[in-house]
Amino acid sequence: MTGRTIRLHTFCSVKGGVGKSTLATACAKLLAARKRVPVLVDCDLTGTSLADGLRLRAPSVTRLDDGSIDLEAPPTGELLTVEQTRALRAQRRDALRRDGQTWKDRPHPPPYFNDPLNYAFRTKRPGRVDALLWRHERDDGVLYLPSSSTHDDVIQSVEWFFGQPFDWARSFAWTLDALAQQVPALSDVVVDLPPGIWGFPHEALVLVSTLLREEPMPDDYPPWHTGPIRWAPNPFLVTSRDPNDILPAIEYVARQRARIPTLKPIVNRDTEGLNALRSMARARVGPLLEAAGLHETLERVAEMSSLARLFWDGDVTADKVPPEVEKTLRLVEEP
Ligand SMILES: Nc1ncnc2c1ncn2[C@@H]1O[C@H](COP(=O)(O)OP(=O)(O)O)[C@@H](O)[C@H]1O
Ligand SMILES: [Mg+2]
Repeated sequence: MTGRTIRLHTFCSVKGGVGKSTLATACAKLLAARKRVPVLVDCDLTGTSLADGLRLRAPSVTRLDDGSIDLEAPPTGELLTVEQTRALRAQRRDALRRDGQTWKDRPHPPPYFNDPLNYAFRTKRPGRVDALLWRHERDDGVLYLPSSSTHDDVIQSVEWFFGQPFDWARSFAWTLDALAQQVPALSDVVVDLPPGIWGFPHEALVLVSTLLREEPMPDDYPPWHTGPIRWAPNPFLVTSRDPNDILPAIEYVARQRARIPTLKPIVNRDTEGLNALRSMARARVGPLLEAAGLHETLERVAEMSSLARLFWDGDVTADKVPPEVEKTLRLVEEP
């Protein structure tokens, strides 16, 4: 494979419900409209799956004898309809309620992000992630990998979430590496992280900082510092104007400034003036802000009915996303 750069756009937040998934989805759609090839990876196992809010079509997968997904099988190239996808999702969710079944016995499809992650954790191989990619009903050029928020899938994954630190981040990195190898046209990965700045989201940001500083990857991680793929991070921290949210968010950004200088706070769903927010932040964490040179970097996404519609009717096209969002997300190419 020839050398190439893949951009890694990551969205984290202190609190849930502040617009990470909205901005991550808008980001992926805008990239596809620019003829790039983005994969949107939904890592928020604890929140609403992207498959709940968008009209997504799952890929048809190869099954093993026990009904589970063959994670080493190449893509079949076929997609289910939205209705077939929803029926299979309900089946996957309900299967365990039958007497005496374990998660190994239940019908697995459709595939979720949880599957390659768990597989990578158990086998140290992520399998054929290219066979697991979903599409929007109206093909918008985005490749989707939604998470499952089904109780048993979450339980299975969080068992090792609380085990060794960095197991998630390591399996995640191998999953990204598999995507890069298996989808040769892949140009961007957009990552919708779980809420919180501890545990996996923090580990993902440590990975971002390692890439930004061009430090060697740790043992057991894909050797990106020596290989032909260059990952270029574009990290964001999404916050609301709620003081319980924005103050810890700014404090986190300020504290991480040395390691992640490009981590950009975005105030979403803000109805107050940006200057009022800046002065509130300055009053509360002022010295930290000044020391980090952060006082002018706060950017805002205004209340926008077009973005709110994404998860209302499951479809917002890239041309409906206001142009300011492209600038805020640093997608506009410098001349
Ligand atoms: N800028 C915005 N204006 C209006 N509504 C928004 C905006 N951003 C997000 N929303 C709505 O707020 C809710 C939570 O957003 P979501 O992106 O799911 O948050 P998160 O992923 O951080 O939990 C969704 O119903 C979404 O449609
Ligand atoms: Mg979300």
